[in-house]
Amino acid sequence: MQNNSIIITGATSGLGQELARICIKKGYKTGGTGRRVERLEEMKDELGDLFYFREMDVTQFDDAKKGLIELAGEMGGADIIVLNAGISNIQDKSSVEVEQCVIDVNVSGFVQLFNTAYNYFEKQGHGQIVGMSSIAAYLGYGLSAPYNASKAFISNYMQGYRQKARRSDAHIIITDIKPGFAESEMTEGQKGMFWVAPTDVAARQILKSIEKRKSRAYITRRWRLIAWLIHIVPNWVIDRI
Ligand SMILES: NC(=O)c1ccc[n+]([C@@H]2O[C@H](COP(=O)([O-])OP(=O)(O)OC[C@H]3O[C@@H](n4cnc5c(N)ncnc54)[C@H](OP(=O)(O)O)[C@@H]3O)[C@@H](O)[C@H]2O)c1
Repeated sequence: MQNNSIIITGATSGLGQELARICIKKGYKTGGTGRRVERLEEMKDELGDLFYFREMDVTQFDDAKKGLIELAGEMGGADIIVLNAGISNIQDKSSVEVEQCVIDVNVSGFVQLFNTAYNYFEKQGHGQIVGMSSIAAYLGYGLSAPYNASKAFISNYMQGYRQKARRSDAHIIITDIKPGFAESEMTEGQKGMFWVAPTDVAARQILKSIEKRKSRAYITRRWRLIAWLIHIVPNWVIDRI
């Protein structure tokens, strides 16, 4: 299986942007997307010929799906698609409108592009889809209920598709990335964080996990311990956080 061409959604800041930089350094043909086209243009100047980009809002489903396929075509094909674009509600006062936005980006946008990527790789006969979930997938949390729920959806959804992929003739790998806390625009100024990974450290570990074709990976690795703790803590304790 070829493995030299990668597309990353949400590449205009944070983990996606750093992952794009590291991929270029390692010689991957790299495609980046996001709404802030000026950032993508700056990245093109910084990263050069191996970097391709496409302005994309993942909530504009038809345009986003078309954009993904066109970007892959422009790059001469894609082997890995990283569905990283995501938003959190934590900075905003919660309202049903904010909650809906989180679902539109993190769930509906994810599902639409996941299906496009899956069908593309099925036709191609091989490929790897990487979904950016979170440790937040493991528990509900009052300050970010829609965000945590959206990440639970992503991990569960990918598990289902991993089973489906095993039964398919195509060789499709599905990698669930579960970061704890990492420095990014999303977490800037957020209180109560611990074990916060520098963006470049987190991005390097993400790429390593992708290259090892893991089914799931904790970023950084010590977050596996927190995942295990959440599983053994009784619900009545979690309900009182
Ligand atoms: N940082 C952490 O501690 C942490 C922990 C667990 C999971 N994660 C996950 O990691 C991913 C990256 O987050 P980050 O921390 O790097 O945050 P970030 O710096 O805020 O980056 C988010 C990216 O998503 C893109 N995006 C947001 N809404 C979009 C939309 N409607 N259409 C297209 N792109 C959109 C943004 O691009 P534009 O604004 O240009 O569109 C940006 O490039 C997210 O899925 C997040 O949930 C992060």
